Amino acid sequence: MSSTDRSARTSTAMIATPAIHAEQLCRHYRMGETLIRAVDGVTLSVKAGEFVALLGSSGSGKSSVLNLIAGLDRPTSGSVIVQERDLAQLSREELARYRLHTVGMVFQSFNLIASMTLAENVELPMRFAEVERGKRDSLAREALTRVGLQGRMNHRPSELSGGEQQRAALARALINRPQLLLADEPTGNLDSHTGTEIMNMVREFNQHLGMTVVMVTHERALAERYAQRLIFLADGKLVGDESNSAVNAADQAGVGGGRP
Ligand SMILES: Nc1ncnc2c1ncn2[C@@H]1O[C@H](COP(=O)(O)OP(=O)(O)OP(=O)(O)O)[C@@H](O)[C@H]1O
Ligand SMILES: [Mg+2]
Repeated sequence: MSSTDRSARTSTAMIATPAIHAEQLCRHYRMGETLIRAVDGVTLSVKAGEFVALLGSSGSGKSSVLNLIAGLDRPTSGSVIVQERDLAQLSREELARYRLHTVGMVFQSFNLIASMTLAENVELPMRFAEVERGKRDSLAREALTRVGLQGRMNHRPSELSGGEQQRAALARALINRPQLLLADEPTGNLDSHTGTEIMNMVREFNQHLGMTVVMVTHERALAERYAQRLIFLADGKLVGDESNSAVNAADQAGVGGGRP
């Protein structure tokens, strides 16, 4: 099934224009005499509702690309357009709003705030988004229940397993209903069983909420199991872009069969 057909099947929030377009994207760092070309002329489009994996060896520029798409960093040159907005044109405040409402991010190291309970962690982006206080608590609890953490609402991150922390981080990333989920090695610190649990949740969000997913991973096998498309980086350059026939065929059959 083409991704257009998929959008029809999964209904919500999908449009034909690319969700993300990077054009000749560069992020160079000057370190004394040397220039590090972390991202070096990447041109790339991701369709709304697509699930893309970014692969490449350590230092190839994967996190740098993801951070530019997330609006956490600004390009040295080139542009990133997300849902028809050129991130370079956004003011600091607009960029902050973009990060709060349009993107959700998860990291290898979970990045939960240690002094806060899970419910408080998940509530935090709603506080920033000025969601009414009365609504926040029940929305946070609902989000944690959705990821199976109803029994852990008042625990602090240090009292949880890695998988539970990552599930909480997912709930937090998704609490403001972003259209875009950016994940940087989301299963990198998890055993394979727990990693599969997290990936199945990410797939759910992609398939049933129509969320666009860009996931950085070292693991080709993981990418092949979940992503519709594999993009390869080396030395900051895009060196490969493959459609993943196994996942696309499973989506076509409507069974997610290639992704046990
Ligand atoms: N703030 C920085 N200052 C200088 N160089 C940097 C900075 N951030 C990243 N780099 C360099 O840019 C290159 C790309 O880094 P990046 O973190 O994007 O790689 P990666 O593909 O995510 O690697 P890994 O798989 O190890 O996470 C690396 O050579 C890195 O050393
Ligand atoms: Mg990285």
